[in-house]
Amino acid sequence: MDFNLSEEQLMIRQAARDFANTELKPGVIDRDEHQQFPAEQVKKLGELGFLGMMVDPKYGGSGMDTISYVLVMEELSKIDASASVVVSVNNSLVCYGLEHYANEEQKQKYLIPLAKGEVIGAFCLSEPEAGSDATSQHTTAIDMGDYYLLNGTKNWITNGNSASTYLVMAQTDVSKGHHGINTLIVERGMEGFTIGKKENKLGIRGSDTHSLMFTDVKVPKQNRIGDDGFGFKFAMKTLDGGRIGIASQALGIASGAFELALHYSKERKTFGKPIAEHQSVQFKLADMATEIETARLLCFKAAWLKDTGQPYGQASAMAKLYASEVAMRTTIEAVQIHGGYGFVKEYHVERLMRDAKITQIYEGTSEIQKIVIAREILK
Ligand code: CAA
Repeated sequence: MDFNLSEEQLMIRQAARDFANTELKPGVIDRDEHQQFPAEQVKKLGELGFLGMMVDPKYGGSGMDTISYVLVMEELSKIDASASVVVSVNNSLVCYGLEHYANEEQKQKYLIPLAKGEVIGAFCLSEPEAGSDATSQHTTAIDMGDYYLLNGTKNWITNGNSASTYLVMAQTDVSKGHHGINTLIVERGMEGFTIGKKENKLGIRGSDTHSLMFTDVKVPKQNRIGDDGFGFKFAMKTLDGGRIGIASQALGIASGAFELALHYSKERKTFGKPIAEHQSVQFKLADMATEIETARLLCFKAAWLKDTGQPYGQASAMAKLYASEVAMRTTIEAVQIHGGYGFVKEYHVERLMRDAKITQIYEGTSEIQKIVIAREILK
């Protein structure tokens, strides 16, 4: 077993680290405060090839492996999880879904601009009454011959008001349950498609989370991904990889908070010595470092399974479950180590603590990850 990263992976990680420090760090506190989407930064991430990282270059992507994706997600998330979630959704949920399940015509039309980062995409599964219970889709896509008539509401959609291409899951035939669900490619600007309110969130406040409304939207038949009724499986298969992205985001939030706490503990003195020389702080740092390394190994394992063509659904659920819990624990401890300074915005750790919470909720709560893991164990 070789734990070394390749030269190329090290270079990609360094590029992401440099980008995070020079382009994301300035302004991150302001964007969080004012809920401002990092539009300029996302455009540059596209130019660097970070929005279609794993897509084949023939479809405008960078052709990198999933390990590199984990590395990039960690580095960006250390500094700005609101920007990194855009990278995660565009790569894992939108580009991956299109590259693996769309037809050639759909790839030419939609995947190429998404992979090049010319536009961004959104993945629209969640509804007011279908979050964890994703089979209970109330949005309908009635088959009208040449087109589907789309009606319903989607909630908590990342990139809701910034995307151009929306992958929307909807029920075509309720009598078939989840086998009656389709995924449709919906374009921004289609008649009857409106963007609803922006959510005022606890964390990842720079990301653009909206509800979406569809009223008699005519979506051409050729915009359906896969065979009739493939929509739910499409969502599940895509989320398996999405969870590697969110696990890596959680890993980055944790390691960002850890680095800040480590630095602070060497500078800050109490009782005549740096707090890093107090055993109570050393124990915290040791626990944080151990848990972060474990989370990183779980992310790499899931990514390696995916890259080597092996089943990775259980591994990605484990990585997400564990890394998101580590993100929460680590950021809370990082605030504690900073004491009163940790509670104010300038020191960044309070933001990381707020950002950490969503990693236990989106792309399946921790409880959903446990269901996925337990089902595999009991199979
Ligand atoms: N790959 C392929 N197929 C899968 C699958 C997978 N990983 N998981 C399930 N399926 C298939 C099953 O085989 C089954 O098909 P058959 O009936 O043909 O056998 C079908 O899907 C239904 O599966 P289940 O019976 O297991 O479905 P369920 O209702 O019991 O629950 C669940 C499944 C795992 C709980 C699922 O509902 C789930 O993952 N829920 C969470 C949804 C989620 O993560 N939402 C996140 C929204 S996206 C987001 O957050 C993006 C963002 O903005 C950042």
